[in-house]
Amino acid sequence: MSKAAPPPQDGMGEPVPRIDARAKVTGAALYAADFPVANAAHAVLVISNVAKGSIRGIDLFAAKATPGVLLVLTRENAADAVKRPSYFAEGGHASTKERPLSSDRIWHDGQIVAMVVADSYEIACDAASRIGVTYDETRPAGKLGGPGTETVAASAVNKKHKDPMVGDAERAYESAPFKIEVELETPTQHHNPIELFATTCLWSDGKLTIYEPSQFVYGLKHGVAEQLGIDPTDIRVVSPFVGGAFGSKGSVTPRTALVAIAARQLGRPVKLVVARDQGFTVATYRAETRHRIRLAAARNGKLLAYQHEAWELTSRIDDYLVGGTEATTRLYAVPNAATKVNIVRADRNTPGFMRSPPEVPYVYAYEAAINELAEVLGMDPVELRRVNDTHKDPITGAPFTSRSLMRCYDEAARAFGWSHRREPPGTASDGDWLIGWGCASALYPTQMSVAAARVRLVRSGAAHVEIAAHDLGTGAYTVLAQAAAEGLGLRPEAISVTLGESSLPPGPVAGGSITTASCCNVVAKACGQIREKLSRAVAQAKDGPLAGTNRRMLQFANGRIVDSRGNGEGLDQALDRLGTGAIEEYAEWIPHGAKPEGLQKLYRGSLDIVGGPMEDRVAFAFGAEFVELRINRYTREIRVPRIVGAFASGRIMNTRTAHSQYMGAMIWGIASALHEETELDERTARYVNKNLADYQVPVNADIGEVEVIMVPEVDRLVNPLGIKGIGELANVGTAAAIAEAAYRATGKRVRKLPIRIEDLL
Ligand code: MOS
Repeated sequence: MSKAAPPPQDGMGEPVPRIDARAKVTGAALYAADFPVANAAHAVLVISNVAKGSIRGIDLFAAKATPGVLLVLTRENAADAVKRPSYFAEGGHASTKERPLSSDRIWHDGQIVAMVVADSYEIACDAASRIGVTYDETRPAGKLGGPGTETVAASAVNKKHKDPMVGDAERAYESAPFKIEVELETPTQHHNPIELFATTCLWSDGKLTIYEPSQFVYGLKHGVAEQLGIDPTDIRVVSPFVGGAFGSKGSVTPRTALVAIAARQLGRPVKLVVARDQGFTVATYRAETRHRIRLAAARNGKLLAYQHEAWELTSRIDDYLVGGTEATTRLYAVPNAATKVNIVRADRNTPGFMRSPPEVPYVYAYEAAINELAEVLGMDPVELRRVNDTHKDPITGAPFTSRSLMRCYDEAARAFGWSHRREPPGTASDGDWLIGWGCASALYPTQMSVAAARVRLVRSGAAHVEIAAHDLGTGAYTVLAQAAAEGLGLRPEAISVTLGESSLPPGPVAGGSITTASCCNVVAKACGQIREKLSRAVAQAKDGPLAGTNRRMLQFANGRIVDSRGNGEGLDQALDRLGTGAIEEYAEWIPHGAKPEGLQKLYRGSLDIVGGPMEDRVAFAFGAEFVELRINRYTREIRVPRIVGAFASGRIMNTRTAHSQYMGAMIWGIASALHEETELDERTARYVNKNLADYQVPVNADIGEVEVIMVPEVDRLVNPLGIKGIGELANVGTAAAIAEAAYRATGKRVRKLPIRIEDLL
């Protein structure tokens, strides 16, 4: 086994190679824009180049005169075409309540003002460039904390939002012997999935097919139905493969309904592939945040007080909010905590989920503060975490379903060689390179959803799994095949899986690292139903090796049903006893704490997610990361030669796909510390670096050694299979570890991400 496919430890699944790998590397896997659609017309968007004001006029003369142009949608001919979208954060489907082309009003830079449809992509681009839009422009306020923005308490705009609070943090802080107060900032970031935001719409007999990369095909189906005012049963969404999403493809953006309307009007399929730069405003992004944190501790390191006030940017139209103190307050035992989240409305497009939406900014800020507190206390930062480790929720007292934070620290510290750490800052170097080490914790709530699935066992020991779940490149196809293989006693190669299709039984959004826990459990349940029927058939049979046995003692292994002595028969024989050629079972799974009506909601494209802090228990996955930075003494060039992360996340279904998830996330963590930032021109409230050349993401040369350690963890409370999601765990906390390492190398504390050369000069 290679490093990328670590041997499984206790309770972990085999590193089965991805069952979709061959299709992907040979190009057989079709992404949304790849589906061959005959006679498709091509759409191109025209977006505003001002952030605030109104449209004075749109000159379509030259565009319409361009040969090959079929249609131009603007507010003139499409103002009422799209119905008001329901916002996903209010239980709806859309990424924004913005109704495209509905009025003259400009809410943000990059707002869709027209869509051109032509015989070819080139003609559509050419015509779009000939559309002259004039604006009455007013000065926008696009910057967090800048003049003209409006700050509102999160609890005032969102009934579900909680600001965790316990004890009397103010008083505890005032009287504590050791304390710090820090302010930290995180930047705007864009997902930049390599696969662009593509949509193809095709009408046939009044029914609409949508090819669009989606993290939630049921949500897309119902959201577009609502925006078009048609019956959702008339819509089919097809999204078998997604070329990266990271949150950007989870809710319905304004583009899809426009493409559907154009296709209906033209009586011809229409295909839109949103250009890279337009994607920065057509879809969502991670909003910038600011944090004010106070921490206080006793001499022995025990935390006494934690105060955290945060500000997050949002648009004027939608009160988007992440609120990460639900996670930070659960990281360590803290007797007194007071937190408050604010949102700041500005003239910007609406932000949205991006990989670990609350945890990445909030845990960065909290863990950076914990590292600073360790220094004030003169303590090893690992020891500070150890004395504050807890096995019950600091806010509610409920137990963690499992928590292996300190085991993660122990294993990662050993692998990293943390015991050789040099004190004080600025004392380790190698030639021209200053060396700094840092560490931080990762945590992510284990989230789960109701889900439904169908499993069909056919002759010769093959089975098929169907669920409208989504593989974003994460390995969902493979782990679902493994769950079915285990449930039926078959080899994973014997299982085929269909995902990403809105006519299948619904799985939840592929967000919140929810898929593996939710969908493997429902597939296991369907397999259990199949086992039950077959076991009954062989045990109640008049003859045969298992006739009269206790069916509850039967095992399914290697394509056979066997008793404890290994006597038994093949699955085909069992099917014969039922007098059937195949057996198909539909199952619905309801996780602990979820309401049964959640399934009806899911069938309507709405989510009911449970997990993280629940009433009687708390479910989180944990990890610890250690990083070494080398910073050039003269140029301050920053290198990351190595990073080690250890993670415990319940049962790991597949050590190969899990390794990729962890490694990719740690690289993303490095990116959030040192690379990624969407720059805003403050005068115009427009993004500046809307391309992959200027939006910095790490390349191979930026990444050194990445070591992933999977710490075995058995969780009997979280769900029947003991699975916690892992996709969004390992990029949490990384930036705090890196900021600490930068300080250790240079003696300079930088409290604003990303950390750049100029911050260290
Ligand atoms: Mo992910 S940001 O939960 O889609």
